[in-house]
Amino acid sequence: MGIPAHLVEKIIWWAGCPPYKGKIVLENLTPKEIVGYLDKYVIGQNDAKKTIAVALRNRYRRMQLSEEMQQDVTPKNILMIGSTGVGKTEIARRLAKMMNLPFIKVEASKYTEVGFVGRDVESMIRDLAVTSLQIVRESENEKNKEKIANYIENKIIEKLLPPLPAGASEQKKAEYDASFARMQERFAKGELDHLKVKVNVPNTPQMPEDGLPPQMIQVQESIVKVLGGMGKKGPEKEVTVKDAKKILEQEASEELLDEESLKALALEKVEKGGIVFLDEIDKVAVSSNSQGRQDPSKEGVQRDLLPIVEGSTVHTKLGMVKTDHILFIAAGAFHVSKPSDLMPELQGRFPLRVELDSLDEETLYRILTEPNNSLIKQYKALLRVEDVDLVFEESALRAISSYSLQANEKTEDIGARRLHTVMERILEEISFFADEHSGEKIVVDEALVKEKIGDVVEDEDTTRYIL
Ligand SMILES: Nc1ncnc2c1ncn2[C@@H]1O[C@H](COP(=O)(O)OP(=O)(O)OP(=O)(O)O)[C@@H](O)[C@H]1O
Ligand SMILES: [Mg+2]
Repeated sequence: MGIPAHLVEKIIWWAGCPPYKGKIVLENLTPKEIVGYLDKYVIGQNDAKKTIAVALRNRYRRMQLSEEMQQDVTPKNILMIGSTGVGKTEIARRLAKMMNLPFIKVEASKYTEVGFVGRDVESMIRDLAVTSLQIVRESENEKNKEKIANYIENKIIEKLLPPLPAGASEQKKAEYDASFARMQERFAKGELDHLKVKVNVPNTPQMPEDGLPPQMIQVQESIVKVLGGMGKKGPEKEVTVKDAKKILEQEASEELLDEESLKALALEKVEKGGIVFLDEIDKVAVSSNSQGRQDPSKEGVQRDLLPIVEGSTVHTKLGMVKTDHILFIAAGAFHVSKPSDLMPELQGRFPLRVELDSLDEETLYRILTEPNNSLIKQYKALLRVEDVDLVFEESALRAISSYSLQANEKTEDIGARRLHTVMERILEEISFFADEHSGEKIVVDEALVKEKIGDVVEDEDTTRYIL
């Protein structure tokens, strides 16, 4: 059973086909596959993983519906609740890596109410739009790889050869073509890489300042364009051919691709597929036990968030972005405040709640050892650079997990972050003297773990200060 022909084109566009730069094309993944991918990095937290996988798959499902139906299917936003260090941000970070969708992670606590100094909440949509444009540009560049490479090659060789004077004879033209062909061969072999050429180095794009009203952003953008030598080409600089190849990539992309259609694609992608991960949402909730003391700025941020989450229009460099179908995933520890301390209207806009479990000893052990790039793998890799073979005995790993749990129970529960402090303490000296042990094997056993942190964990005060 194949995919119906009329959907294929859509999927290909949507997925930014062909897959590039090792990014997995999320839209083709089932919820089970998304969870499978997350499992490689985040241990446990199955409810959260499942809920998010379904929400992401629903983005794709919605795309397959009729336009009319699509309008009515709004995303179900998610609120992740879990104490500190249990993997909330980690899940988002991993999703961002695998996705070919506009995705940004922002901290709710970084925003200030409109009208006050600081970033206003609408700027998250502007940032999302920029991300979308980057994704679309990268995938279009990839599709036009050859054209871009040709443009760069021709441009560089033209600069290296003495120019052909206007009205040159047929013979001169033929000679020029022959030298051009020879240069092309040498270019392909990298023989020209060390030569010097003059190229226009693009100006670094100036971001409009945050907190300005939309009209002002437009004005600022056009001023930057006019002052910046019509936006594109910057000052000429002499560089090696090798560097010129990189520098000319942007120019080639701008010359060959149609900016307006890129923007249109990016706009569609951000409106239909955009995802905002709103971390630290609990920090803008006003705790009910603050005894009537209200924090107007926190409430202000919540009030500003409401229309964006509910669906409004934000001015961005892609034009007006409708936020109705952008998916919001909020996360917070809610130690002090409760989800019910958020404005009721805002609570209602996050209908899916998932709780993340706190970490027990077995989970800590698995986090230490299992994930791709787990802490143990990281430390081993770091010391391999010094030609030291760092080996952990099974009993040592168990002891580390057990002490970490004890420390979490005795003082604050900081989740898996405790593993970092404990490991640092154990490996402090080994790391410091590693260069003296080049070519050797260093074994971390239970006794060493006990020696380094056994006494510390025994005492609550030392735990507080040292771990
Ligand atoms: N379930 C888990 N699986 C693998 N690694 C984890 C897990 N939980 C936490 N970690 C690791 O612990 C560290 C902190 O996790 P993370 O940043 O996700 O915490 P958080 O839940 O967002 O906490 P906070 O509320 O303080 O922001 C990260 O380095 C992460 O890799
Ligand atoms: Mg976090």
